[in-house]
Amino acid sequence: MRFDPWDQKFVAHPYDVYAEMRASTPVTFFEPTGQWLVARHADVNALLRDRRLGRSYLHVAGHEEYGRQPEPDFQEPFWRVTRTGMLDVEPPVHTRLRRLVSKAFTPRMVESLRPRIRRIATGLAEDLVERGGGDLLADVAEPLPVTVIAEMLGVPEEDRHLLRPWSADICGMYELNPSMEAQLKAVRAAEEFSGYLRDLSRSRRDAPGDDLISALTQVVDEGDRLTEDELIGTCVLLLNAGHEATVNVTGNGWWSLFRNPGELARLRADHSLLPTAVEELMRYDTPLQLFERWVLEDITVGGVHIPRGVEVALLFGSANHDDAVFDDPATLNLSRPENPHISFGAGIHFCLGAPLARIELIESFGALLRAAPGLTLDEEPTWKPNYVIRGLTSLKVSV
Ligand code: HEM
Repeated sequence: MRFDPWDQKFVAHPYDVYAEMRASTPVTFFEPTGQWLVARHADVNALLRDRRLGRSYLHVAGHEEYGRQPEPDFQEPFWRVTRTGMLDVEPPVHTRLRRLVSKAFTPRMVESLRPRIRRIATGLAEDLVERGGGDLLADVAEPLPVTVIAEMLGVPEEDRHLLRPWSADICGMYELNPSMEAQLKAVRAAEEFSGYLRDLSRSRRDAPGDDLISALTQVVDEGDRLTEDELIGTCVLLLNAGHEATVNVTGNGWWSLFRNPGELARLRADHSLLPTAVEELMRYDTPLQLFERWVLEDITVGGVHIPRGVEVALLFGSANHDDAVFDDPATLNLSRPENPHISFGAGIHFCLGAPLARIELIESFGALLRAAPGLTLDEEPTWKPNYVIRGLTSLKVSV
């Protein structure tokens, strides 16, 4: 097998291919996407921190200089939402946008949410037990982070069912070479989602509540107000990033545990392993497999010259299995002492929600371990066709 993000077999088992790439072609050009693939931990980690690369090039050059066509007009609603969130901009705009919301996501702030997160997680786990089992993904993994981030932002309960489909459609655009159907879905979702948030934020501006959207509408950052587009882009990013990966870590994580019964038994016997277990599950089966960067100045990676103007694709799943950094990387070790996995990224775009995600995951796994100590898997799950945001379609379990 070789690197082929559109091959369902590769999506299900990418790690052996990565091992070969790290050994023989750690930096290699990938014709179908026109990107340089980077497979080793040291290179991925260094490039994430290297300011000669950026999530975007638009702060230093136009599309033409980068040999790119301007995006087609029909995609405008998607790019308007994406390019106004902090993830797709570089300093100084990135610095300003990140500072505006970072206060809400500090370890101390999110720690104060733990009791509420535990209550939600326990309720979901107990409901699953009462029904004798179900789909762990739809019944527990999804509703927890969606509820938490929606409550933080102040999205009314009756509208929350809209968030997941909008987010899933928008995220379709982050896959490699998305189909026209995926592009159209992403554009429509971006349009609807931003329209919804425009109305909601306008009503909160006039009648603020105790939530992040209200706070953002009032914000004056050193004389610098958030524009309405930036406010919407920020909320879309927080609502999407705030649950997509957490859902997949929960699903992929339980699937890893079921495949490693010895480790699951160890965790069942000792819940104090949860903090290191969650880190290890994020490493062992990485939820976000690839992140891209534009090369803003010529660089050399692993002896390979990469010129300004092209894109690199950093293989997080590969970096997390690099035996130059991890002892016995193919083994799941829930008490792994050193675990510098790269699943939350590194550098200026390091995941803003990492402290929140860690609490959600510890509470979610903990609640299920307590409520369903004999949880078993009903059938082998299948992977969604997506590679970049990699997760299962469902995870059927019995108690
Ligand atoms: C286990 C769950 C999560 C994983 C694996 C994850 C992973 C990541 C990664 C890898 C990045 C950096 C992308 C890059 O460098 O190109 C990132 C950025 C980000 N994440 Fe997360 N994330 C998770 C949960 C969350 C949660 C719960 C939130 C809540 C708000 C969140 C909000 C963000 C934001 C706002 C950014 C952009 C930061 C910036 O550009 O400065 N994430 N995340």
